[in-house]
Parts: sequence; C-alpha cells; structure tokens
Amino acid sequence: MNCSRAGTPQPDKGAFVRDMFAKIAPRYDTANRVISAGLDEGWRKRAIALLAPPKGGRVLDLCCGTGDVVFHLLRIDPSLDVTGVDFCEPMLENARRRATHEARGKATFVEADVMTLPFEDRAFDGATMGFSMRNVVDIDATLREIRRVLRPGARFVNLDMSKAPNKLWKALFGVYFYRIVPLIGGVVGGSHQAYSYLPNSLTNHPNAEALRERFEKAGFQNSGFVRLMGGAIAIHYGTAA
Ligand SMILES: C[S@@+](CC[C@H](N)C(=O)[O-])C[C@H]1O[C@@H](n2cnc3c(N)ncnc32)[C@H](O)[C@@H]1O
Repeated sequence: MNCSRAGTPQPDKGAFVRDMFAKIAPRYDTANRVISAGLDEGWRKRAIALLAPPKGGRVLDLCCGTGDVVFHLLRIDPSLDVTGVDFCEPMLENARRRATHEARGKATFVEADVMTLPFEDRAFDGATMGFSMRNVVDIDATLREIRRVLRPGARFVNLDMSKAPNKLWKALFGVYFYRIVPLIGGVVGGSHQAYSYLPNSLTNHPNAEALRERFEKAGFQNSGFVRLMGGAIAIHYGTAA
C-alpha cells in the first residue's frame, strides 16, 4: 500500500482507496451512523429530493459503497431502476446482501471505476454520488464521464463533505473531523488509519464554489449547491447539457 506518514495516499491513489475501503467494509455502515450521529440519512434524503428523477427512470449511484443512496432512492420511489457502481468488491458484497431485504425495487450492482464507466452514452435519467468525490483520482475526468452517461436534461447530484465558509465553525468542525473521527473510526470502524485519511482527503478538495465551477467546466448547466451543517456538508447539482 502506498501511504505516507500522515495517511495521505501517494501516486496510486485508486489502489490505496480501494484497499482502504476493503478493510473497513465490514463495519462501514455502523461507523457512518456513529460519526454522523445518524444525520447522514437526512442529508441523503435532501440530495435525492434535489435529483427529482422521473418515475420509472434509470438512475446511477456512483461510488455506491454498501448501497445507502441506492436503497434511499428505492424507498422514495420503488419504480426507479437503480444501478450502483463501486470499484471495491467487499463494499459491493455488503450492498448485495442488503439488497435482499432493503431493495423494494430494482437494484443492480456493478464493479467498475467511476472514471471509466461500462455504460453507453446517455443511458441514465439521473445520477448521484455520496461522500466520494474527494476520493477520485481526477475530479474533472470523473465529472465528464458522469455527464457522458446522462441523457441531456438529466441531473447529477453530489453529496459530500465541504469547507465551511465561517472560520470559527470551520475550526470547530475541523477538531471533530480531524481529531475525533479517527478515534471513533479506530474503535467502531476498525481502522484509525483509514479514518485519518478520510478527513485528510478534504484538505486538498476544492471549496463549494470551486467545485460548482468544475461542474460547469465538465458540461453541466444550471449548477449550484446547497450547504448543510453550516457548509461542512454540501450538495452540488448540475444538469447534463
Ligand atoms: C465514503 S464511501 C461512500 C459510499 C456511499 N456512497 C455512501 O454514501 O455511504 C466511498 C466509496 O467510493 C468508492 N470509490 C472511490 N473511488 C472510486 C472509483 N474511482 N470508482 C469506483 N468507486 C470508487 C469506494 O470503494 C467506497 O465504497
């Protein structure tokens, strides 16, 4: 594994991220709920409300992990045909297991890298991504690839950590995120190292406005974002041109 002292990935970021999620997959869901104090469920619902997919539409959930966004989509609208994509097989195994009792509609899981999606152009009526844009090797290439598989007029909604604009709140949140999350991750999630990387992945991530501009650059129109938790979380959206 290519990892520096601070837990920051070196050049082979994709392999590092995949190995890390494989390690934390068994306890990922529990750690998520504890770290977000259960609030992540509400954030996912807000993101899906912004997607507003058409009845019976084909929706792609990128970096689906254990399927949280996929199952939320299907709970909200069982008529949807939802495909989850992730490159970490142990995370997908959990998603498939959960699907046997949580999927009230059609859920398909595909192992693939979101930077090279195995789908035709314009195949989907909407796409989501939860807590993952910080992990991809190339944000611009990923956004272009997502736009490629969306039909013109379809929306992409991205829910992720972000940088709070208020300095005091940013500092307070930083203490939680950079100091306390790794401790909780060590105890509940089973890997202090992995939960040290996850906050660090935010450090070099664009701020909310800069990420919105990257949406436009990749060919999304009418882009915008909604800040949650004082901006520590953001939901970005854009419409495929
Ligand atoms: C923090 S988890 C988020 C999982 C889920 N979306 C959620 O909201 O709980 C990040 C996921 O992104 C996946 N991932 C990261 N980079 C990826 C890539 N380039 N292609 C496919 N999956 C990727 C990881 O394997 C992991 O399952």
